[in-house]
Amino acid sequence: MILEVKTAGDPVLKKVCEDVKKIDKRIKKLLDDMAETMYKYEGVGIAAPQVGVSVRAVVIDVDKKKYEMINPVITYREGSVTDSEGCLSCPDLFGEVERAEKVRVKFTTRFHKEKELEAEGLLARCIQHELDHLDGKLFIDIAKNITKGRKEK
Ligand code: NI
Repeated sequence: MILEVKTAGDPVLKKVCEDVKKIDKRIKKLLDDMAETMYKYEGVGIAAPQVGVSVRAVVIDVDKKKYEMINPVITYREGSVTDSEGCLSCPDLFGEVERAEKVRVKFTTRFHKEKELEAEGLLARCIQHELDHLDGKLFIDIAKNITKGRKEK
């Protein structure tokens, strides 16, 4: 099911999300719907609060690989790189955001498995962007040179 994407100004995007306590049917359905919504609007990631649910779950798709992360925590960061970002919750806005170049993230899968993943490049950026959503942070709060529409490079 495609869900309504909340946009900047909606208070749900400012809240610190709760941990997922139980991985049940409801969470699995939420992850499915988040993925469907992300693909529909051609995002590379989506966090639960963006569809109005204040829990710690994100879905990411980078290089045609889908990642679902429940209660994700970044355990390691290395380096720093600035690049352009956008967000489904901030339609048509883009800005330059400084992020760690590499991260390691620990999370639970829908199959109750604990996993750890090392990422760099777009995937690392996306993980940091989506995890910020879980703490009520939007990229426009930290971006520089925010423009309407994507800037040609
Ligand atoms: Ni976003």
